[in-house]
Amino acid sequence: MNSESAAERIDTTKPHPARRYDYWLGGKDNFPADRESADAVAEAFPTVRLAAVENRNFLRRVTRYLAAEAGIRQFLDIGAGLPTAGNVHEIAQGIAPESRIVYVDNDPIVLVHARTLLNSAPEGRTAYLDADLNDPERILNHPDLLATLDMKEPVALMLVAVMHFFTDDRQPYDLVRALCDALPPGSHLVMSHATNDHLDPEDLAATTEANKRSGVPFQLRSSAEFTKFFSGYELVPPGITAVMEWRPDEYRAQPRAEAVSMLGGVAQIS
Ligand SMILES: C[S@@+](CC[C@H](N)C(=O)[O-])C[C@H]1O[C@@H](n2cnc3c(N)ncnc32)[C@H](O)[C@@H]1O
Repeated sequence: MNSESAAERIDTTKPHPARRYDYWLGGKDNFPADRESADAVAEAFPTVRLAAVENRNFLRRVTRYLAAEAGIRQFLDIGAGLPTAGNVHEIAQGIAPESRIVYVDNDPIVLVHARTLLNSAPEGRTAYLDADLNDPERILNHPDLLATLDMKEPVALMLVAVMHFFTDDRQPYDLVRALCDALPPGSHLVMSHATNDHLDPEDLAATTEANKRSGVPFQLRSSAEFTKFFSGYELVPPGITAVMEWRPDEYRAQPRAEAVSMLGGVAQIS
């Protein structure tokens, strides 16, 4: 891992999803181009910060479920994002210290901050791959992945808030299928995704235009389109839901589904 060249690769003139998400979550690793892009989205969808927070809460609850209830000890988190409170290894190893986690992201700024993700419990192991989801073969055959995960044991593939950056022309369903096909029996697929389920045509047009203006390719999907990613797999109850309704921790006032507009689901692959 060469973090000096990663630092050189960081382009602060263009908005990047990882830094924009960091801004919505209240982080400091973002630049004016990211904030401008984030604000363009927020103009059409003012509750986008709430969506980011609820998405992150979903990721934490799912990781806890997988480690504590499903017995999963290996995680492949693609589109991991900048480290923030409650990264996958912290939660999983808090329950099962022997857990092994491979983080993947294609943004050089995430690589620069990856040290935090490599802070594994001594009983387990973590690795970070500077790699692109467009090339599943490279991820699956990467020596650092193969040194970290036992590909004969179940793996949780986490694609949390990442597939909406894949417009239909980039074969998102084929990419997810290629990754799942490579995983052993007992593996799980975890996904969350921005949805247009609650938008009337006028809001949909405004949001689509704002996403175009924001400079980051983005595609909202309906629950039917999202559910297609899981086709042939066994959904874990309660199935596909709004992210905050997926096994909520305890009773608390829930935001309205349209204010979050993020769907989540977990399935056992085979
Ligand atoms: C919105 S963030 C989500 C972070 C984390 N998964 C979460 O839900 O809290 C999306 C992440 O996906 C990464 N990403 C987008 N396209 C990618 C690609 N083609 N390959 C790898 N990572 C990608 C971005 O760099 C960013 O860090």
